[in-house]
Amino acid sequence: MTSQEKQEMVVTPWEVSGDIDYDRLIEQFGVQPMTQSIADRIAKHAGYMHLQLRRGVYLSHRDTDWWLDEYEKGNKVGLYTGRGPSGHVHLGHLLPWFFCKYLQDAFDADLYFQMTDDEKFLQRDELTLEETVALTYENALDVIACGLNPEKTFIFSDTDHIGEIYRLGLKVAKRVTYSTVKAVFGFQDSTNIGMIWYPALQAMTCFLQSSREGRNIPCLIPAAIDQDNYWRMTRDIAEKMGYYKPAQIHAKFLPGLAQGGKMSASQPDTAIFTTDPPKVAAKKVMKAFTGGRDTVEEQKRLGGRPEVCNVYAYYYFLFEEDDDKLVERERLCRCGGIMCGECKKQLAERVKVFLTEFQEKREKAREVLDEFLLKPLNEKE
Ligand code: TYM
Repeated sequence: MTSQEKQEMVVTPWEVSGDIDYDRLIEQFGVQPMTQSIADRIAKHAGYMHLQLRRGVYLSHRDTDWWLDEYEKGNKVGLYTGRGPSGHVHLGHLLPWFFCKYLQDAFDADLYFQMTDDEKFLQRDELTLEETVALTYENALDVIACGLNPEKTFIFSDTDHIGEIYRLGLKVAKRVTYSTVKAVFGFQDSTNIGMIWYPALQAMTCFLQSSREGRNIPCLIPAAIDQDNYWRMTRDIAEKMGYYKPAQIHAKFLPGLAQGGKMSASQPDTAIFTTDPPKVAAKKVMKAFTGGRDTVEEQKRLGGRPEVCNVYAYYYFLFEEDDDKLVERERLCRCGGIMCGECKKQLAERVKVFLTEFQEKREKAREVLDEFLLKPLNEKE
């Protein structure tokens, strides 16, 4: 296959591959394109516009404007996101978690953080339940290292905290038919029955804060758009259960280091994990797919193509905070003023610094992990 050929797009909660066409996803999933007004309103409350909002990382939403209206009326609002602990955390996972930290501070919102050790056990043949449960607590360190507030963050494991969540999960499950989940998720006769039940648990968390506090609290879910199937299903039953429909704000995918698709733990050579030794991560960066030309001579003459370059994407999504410097990097690339080797070297250095700092925070998180875990309602704080 040549680099020009398009690879077919697949976007489901369990697989993201090919060339992602976000406009088509917005249409297929029936979501609203993100607006400047929503970005401005969020920034007004936060006191600044987050890099991810400035750079259009959030491509679409559902009812985020309503969630903001509720907050502006003086009502309490909440946040929900999660992780399927199937391996170590990579940089792509961090994007929505950094954004949650920003929203948590801006809106003084509680964040319910679901660790779906059940989902990953059921879905991945190669993983044992003991492994996914252990990964829950390893991955929780990454969540905490994003700087979340321990008093307002409630991390829970589906398996360990089942006593806290089972009843609400059942109330969801009773309202969703097999034919609905088959249509929404593409389940087959050969799908194990655990997977068929599991969506009830991912949906349940949309109502968990409301259920625990005994009043309706608008819930916003920051996540990449791959999780959208769950929210379509949940929104259909929310009001019948007496809750608000959950709102969503959808992120684009951080690409992997190879061409096409997103950063994915199932392709470890092309993903940067938060646990990678910084030097190993730097080596991966040096092998990344770029928008460069075949020869240096051609690149000097024609310039590079930042629009297809993963290295540029990393600066754009995460590693260049300064907008003017980003524009200058793009200009240099397009006019052949910087070669891919140099651009990769500079990125590799930034990745090393980032990982060194992040890993320190991650280690410190071990000492405070318990403060972040969801406690039973009747347990005295
Ligand atoms: P999981 O573990 O696949 O992904 C965790 C979060 O990371 C996002 N994500 C990415 N974002 C940007 N670039 C990427 N390359 C990238 N890869 C993954 C995902 O969208 C997700 O936000 N079933 C879920 C766990 C879950 C959940 C939730 C996620 C339970 N409740 C509520 C989001 C919101 C899962 O396996 O996520």
